[in-house]
Amino acid sequence: MDWDELIAAAAAVRANAYAPYSGFPVGAALLMEDGSIWAGANVEYCIPSLSTCAERNALAAALSAGLRKPRAVAVITDMSPPARPCGLCRQALSELADGDLPILVTNTQGEREETTLAKLLPDRFYLRYGPGTGASPES
Ligand code: THU
Repeated sequence: MDWDELIAAAAAVRANAYAPYSGFPVGAALLMEDGSIWAGANVEYCIPSLSTCAERNALAAALSAGLRKPRAVAVITDMSPPARPCGLCRQALSELADGDLPILVTNTQGEREETTLAKLLPDRFYLRYGPGTGASPES
């Protein structure tokens, strides 16, 4: 996996993060099934529960474009060691991606660590809506 393009997209969108409350900008980029890249930054509101992480904003952009299968994810912050996706984002990704989804966490200092969704979220929850519906990641 060549991560450079995905990291560049995540770093570029991080510059647009709207994080006035935490002061912690995050950028995420997803490689989707057709080879396209979709990026998202975190967005915060004064009602904290309204805020959304970079990963889920990137996912929403890809889904809104009609894409359904993440093939790789890169996340960049300025934290060392590099910050992992939060639990909510792990769960959101698990609805669409397989457990072997490669996740690269990196930072502005250039540290990189590669992991997988299954390592970050073992024994994930998912709903089976029934055979043939295509709704489950496993089907
Ligand atoms: N954040 C993300 O965007 N992704 C993560 O995986 C962890 C946290 C954001 C949420 C909030 O805007 C800020 O970082 C501090 O938690």
